[in-house]
Amino acid sequence: MRVAIGSDHAGYKFKDSIKKHLREKDIEVLDFGPNNDEASDYPDYAKIVAEKVIQDPECDLGILICGTGIGMSISANKIKGIRAALISTKFTAQSAKAHNHANVITFGSRVNTIQEVLDFIDIFLETENSQEPRHIKRVEKMGQLESKL
Ligand code: RB5
Repeated sequence: MRVAIGSDHAGYKFKDSIKKHLREKDIEVLDFGPNNDEASDYPDYAKIVAEKVIQDPECDLGILICGTGIGMSISANKIKGIRAALISTKFTAQSAKAHNHANVITFGSRVNTIQEVLDFIDIFLETENSQEPRHIKRVEKMGQLESKL
C-alpha cells in the first residue's frame, strides 16, 4: 500500500507521527511536505497530495492535516476524482471508507489528539469499501456531479 501525506504548519507535527505509525506497519508513505512548521498554505499541499492520488494508480490514499481538517478537505475536493473526508470520530472514520469510499482523509490537529487520529487511521485502513449497491450507486453519483450553473 502507498500513501501520500501532506500538511500545513498546523498539521506538521501530526504528519511526522502519522508517517512513523504507517511505516511501522510497512506501509509506504510519500511525504509531500512541508519540511518545517513555518507558516504555509494548506491548498498548496492539498493539491499536490490529491493529484498524486489521482495520477498514481499505486497510491491508494491521501492523508492531509491542518488545524481543523476543513481547509484541507475543501481544497482536496476541488480535484476531480477526489473524495476527501474530514474525520473526527471513530464513526466518521468507519463511514468515510465503507459508505463514501474516501480516497483522501483529512484531520484537524486542533480538534483531535494525535492518538485519536492514529486510531481513526487504523479504523479507516481496517474497513472495506462497502460493495452494497446503494453505496456504489451514491459513490458513482458523486463522481458524476457537475454543476451547469
Ligand atoms: C491555519 O492557521 C489554519 O487556518 C489551517 O491549519 C486550517 O485549520 C484551515 O482549515
